[in-house]
Amino acid sequence: MFSISRDDLGPNFTFGAATAAYQIEGGQTDGRGTSIWDTFSSTPGNVKNLDTGTIACDHYNRWPGDLDLIRDGGFDAYRFSFAWPRLIPEGIGAVNPKGLDFYDRLIDGMLERGIKPYATLYHWDLPSALQDKGGWMNRDIASWFAEYATLVGHHFGDRLHATATINEPWCVAFLSHFLGVHAPGYRDLRAASRAMHHVLFAHGTAIDALRAESVKNLGIVLNLEKAEAFSDKPEDLEAQNLGDALFNRWYLDGVFKGRYPEELTSRLAPYLPEGFEKDMEVVSRPLDWLGINYYTRGLYAAGPNGLFGAERRSGDLEQSDLGWEIYPKGLEDLLVRVNRDYTKLPLYVTETGMSETNDERRVKYYDDHLRAVGNAQGQGADVRGFFAWSLLDNYEWAQGYTSRFGIVHVDYDTQIRTPKASYRAFQGMLHNTR
Ligand code: FCB
Repeated sequence: MFSISRDDLGPNFTFGAATAAYQIEGGQTDGRGTSIWDTFSSTPGNVKNLDTGTIACDHYNRWPGDLDLIRDGGFDAYRFSFAWPRLIPEGIGAVNPKGLDFYDRLIDGMLERGIKPYATLYHWDLPSALQDKGGWMNRDIASWFAEYATLVGHHFGDRLHATATINEPWCVAFLSHFLGVHAPGYRDLRAASRAMHHVLFAHGTAIDALRAESVKNLGIVLNLEKAEAFSDKPEDLEAQNLGDALFNRWYLDGVFKGRYPEELTSRLAPYLPEGFEKDMEVVSRPLDWLGINYYTRGLYAAGPNGLFGAERRSGDLEQSDLGWEIYPKGLEDLLVRVNRDYTKLPLYVTETGMSETNDERRVKYYDDHLRAVGNAQGQGADVRGFFAWSLLDNYEWAQGYTSRFGIVHVDYDTQIRTPKASYRAFQGMLHNTR
């Protein structure tokens, strides 16, 4: 049970659960094209156990039962993503009618059940054909992404409650092109620098495309971490500042201030696309809301094992089974900071959760993070919603199926779904106050 009750966060607060296409759908049939995650996951060494999303949670076929779980849990909203290669198999050009049909059924299924659709256009499954042309390293991605956004906006827009362009641009750019942990798995500063700009430029062109289709309630989902210093030594504080710039401020400053942090543009100057400054007006197009995904803090010290000498260290807070430190206060501080320094727009916690098999710990995690949201509201942050990551145990990217974030357990042999204590805790809280 949670100690917090629904009304503590305000009468119109939205509670939801979140997933992403590649992590749950499977269904690699009916004309779906391939994505960079299909090939990345099939390349030995990238993903634990060589796990792939070929079947995942078979949500492509089991979606009615999954939507029932969301409704029965008492959730108001479902955050899901469209698979670009299911809709446009080659990324640009011919549209797959069966892909449109699938998302028609899914969205109509939400509406029939009284669940608000919160859509994300891009949650990391780039069509392989576009990667062949350079993917996020190629400036043309802005027009490819806008073409896809136009299709989604035109066909589904009037049924979507809220639409985000990109999920976690730091992961799309830095984790995938500098750290090499996610597809396409590059470890290259020039590749990363270009992706860091193009991902936000494409976000802006997609906002324009969606608005041209009269789609309402548009946003982006940023993953933010509370950046802290390992010690008070000046060099560690400098590392904290650079870590904060690389993880948080590149994206926040870009989207809300139309410029990138100077300590990064100076250091990345040789690698950034020429003339990027001219795109900043598009990068910073006005939005209707901001989504924040939050999992942990970033603890920085000066050292050789991080870009520009900002090295990440592990701290001594309690950890999830992935070794991520659990730090609800970090969420509170970030929400207050974003409201104070960046925007008065409505904020949504579009993901938070923990990888864990002991579900009582997950119940406490959610209770503590919901309280953190209440504390941030008390300091003026206009937080309007909270989405649990994730509805289901699912394909956790480089961790494969070894990591379980779900509030509903999935047996991958039988595809049987079993609600966990955390699902029951949400259900108890959400039903009690209806
Ligand atoms: C976020 C991703 C999501 C999931 C969680 C654990 O970075 O958006 O797909 O992997 O982490």
